[in-house]
Parts: sequence; structure tokens; C-alpha cells
Amino acid sequence: MKVFSLLWAYAATSVLGASWIAPGAVWYDTDGNKIDAHGGGVVKRGDTFYWVGHAASNQTPNLYSSTDLINWKNLGKQASSVTGMWRPKIAKPNGSFWLFGQQDRYVLSLKSANFVGGYSQSTKVHIPPNDYSYSDTGMFFDEDTETWYLLTSADHNIVQVNRINKDGALGDKVSDLRGGAYEAPGIVKADGVYFLIVSGKTGWRANPNKVFWSNSINGPWSGGSDIAPQDQKTYGSQNTFELTVKGSQKTTYIYMGDAWDSKGGASSNYVWAPLNINAGSHSVQIDYHSMWKVDVNTGVVSYPSTLKRYEAEHAVLSGRTAGEAHIFVNDEPPVNISSLNSRAGYHTSTPVQLTLKPGDVNTITFGATGSDGFEVSVDGIELFEEDEE
Ligand code: GLA
Repeated sequence: MKVFSLLWAYAATSVLGASWIAPGAVWYDTDGNKIDAHGGGVVKRGDTFYWVGHAASNQTPNLYSSTDLINWKNLGKQASSVTGMWRPKIAKPNGSFWLFGQQDRYVLSLKSANFVGGYSQSTKVHIPPNDYSYSDTGMFFDEDTETWYLLTSADHNIVQVNRINKDGALGDKVSDLRGGAYEAPGIVKADGVYFLIVSGKTGWRANPNKVFWSNSINGPWSGGSDIAPQDQKTYGSQNTFELTVKGSQKTTYIYMGDAWDSKGGASSNYVWAPLNINAGSHSVQIDYHSMWKVDVNTGVVSYPSTLKRYEAEHAVLSGRTAGEAHIFVNDEPPVNISSLNSRAGYHTSTPVQLTLKPGDVNTITFGATGSDGFEVSVDGIELFEEDEE
């Protein structure tokens, strides 16, 4: 029997103009459509963040932009003819414009004369120096060496770091991680220490992602500790990228993961959270909150205050409800949470955005029907303060 525990997170009264990052919830772009940028990465140019990821339906690269990491504008498909390109990442944003990803176990690179749009295939190669085919791609820009590195999970269970040459060609391997079955790599550098975050290999199902460290991009990589409590399975997600926000008061490191559905499909979501990094003790921990945000100017992270928590045992239980797994608020259209429950793996918390009226006047009903083993359990409902921006 599978028991799901639901925790409600109340974000904002309207879909447009979200105020917080709610990991694992459905995120909408500024047109009101579900954001479709999986296995992606984020870079900053000027005051703007750009998020590239693959479309769930055909793995063509999609680009979004934001100035607050919360509200994302869809800039559309980046390469009209390219499909089947998984985990795209932006490379060399200050030189010419490149997207690197995986296609048919090759490294595919796309090039464009412009940063936004017009990308077409440059090269499709196996990985030097050993001509490995590979699966997941990652990306890291080292400010000290002004170099982009492509991280790959080759066959033979080797995660390796390759240089990307100035001409955009895939360059030499500079280090690798052996001795475990890992994929979905990303690197973050804090206080001079390089941290390589990887997932285990369990397909679309989430697993405890690990961190390795090195004093140099050239390795060797040591460690292999958890970045979250094991039973949380990285909060139901798989690593894709680490973003560093250098603010005037604080540098904040952000874990970016995918909360895949059972087949990496369109109901997959995103889990982003700040990372607590202690470079001296080589510890990297996800600082999980069901809602949070970072001030992109100061780098300071904040959380909404919980206005009220309603415990499930105080709820009125009545009758049987029909539907798959729905939440009904007053006379609003039902919110179908079945797609969230079909996510691969076990999730202890499912954030849902609901529209409530002010005051003690709301009725929230939930219902689930399914096969014998299916059960929904509600632990409680938490209301968060709404942002007044
Ligand atoms: C792993 C990879 C994903 C995808 C699935 C397919 O989880 O990280 O990108 O390829 O395997 O099973």
C-alpha cells in the first residue's frame, strides 16, 4: 500500500506573478502555461537569468527568462529542427552562443549567432579521449579559469569532466569520478572547493543524490555523502544544475533538480532549493523549505511565515468522495492532484497552489478513488503569508 501525505502550500491568489519558489509544485510561466524545461540549467546575462531545458514531449530546447528566478517568460523553442536532445545546457554565454546536450548517446552541440533563438547543429560527437558514448550532460563555468566544463556520465559508470574549447569543440577530459553508478552531474564551487553533485542510477525514480569534492577541477574527487536525508530521496528529485547567486550581502548556492513523473513526461516538475555548504568540512546539504525565495540583488534567502496550520485530525470526515485525487476549494474548479501523485518515487509533501478567500469561510474537500492499494492521507494544511509586493 502506498500512502501519500499531502501538505498544502498556499502561494498566491493568482497564477500570474508568483511570489515564492515552491519546490515540486506545478510552475507556470508568465503566460499561464506550465513551464516545460526539463533537465536544464540557468545562466545569468546582465540582470536576467536564462533557463534552458528540454520539452517533455520531444526534447527540443526551450528557453525562459526571469529577473527574479520566480516569474519566467517563455522565449520559445531554440532550435526549430532539433528534437531528442536531452538535458540541454548553455555554454560560453560571453563568447559565441552554444547549447550542449545529449542526443542518441552522443554529445550534441548547437550554435547560434544570437543568444536567443536560431540554434542549429554544430557537432555530434562521442566523448574524448576514449570515444565513450554517454548519457546525462551537465555544465559548469569556472570563473577562475574562464572555462566551461561539460560533465558527462559515460558508459562504464564514469562521470567525467571535459573542457569545452574556445572554438566550442568538446575538449580534453580533466578529471573523472569512478567507483559508483552515478549520473545527472552538476558542479558548484564554494570557498575554493569544487563540489560535484550526482544522482544514483534508478531511471526516473528519485534516489539519494550524492556530493563529491575536490580542491581542483582536475580532481581527484573524494567523498560521496548525501545532500539530503536518505529517506527523502533528494526531496523526490534528480540533480540537473547548480546555480550561484552572488549578492551584495551573501552568495547563495542553489540546487536545481527535476521531479520526474514516472516516464520523464509532461507532468514532471522542478525542485529548487538553497544549498548549505561548509567548504571546510566538505558538507553540502539541501536547505529544504516548501516555499522560499532569494533576493537576486542581495543574495539573501527568505521564507514565508506560516500563518496557520490546520491538523488533519481536526477535519470533519463525511461520506465518500468521487474522482481520482482532487482537491475542491469552495466552488472553484477541482484541482487534480493525480498527475502529481504519478510522479516517480515517494513524496512526503505535495505542494499545491489553491485560491482561498480571506477569513474563516473556506471549505476544502479532498477525495481519492483508485485500486485497493491506493490511499491518500492528509497530514495537515498550512497557510502561508501572501507576499505584498
Ligand atoms: C536517468 C537520466 C534521465 C533519463 C532516465 C531514463 O534518470 O538521468 O535523464 O535518461 O535515466 O531512464
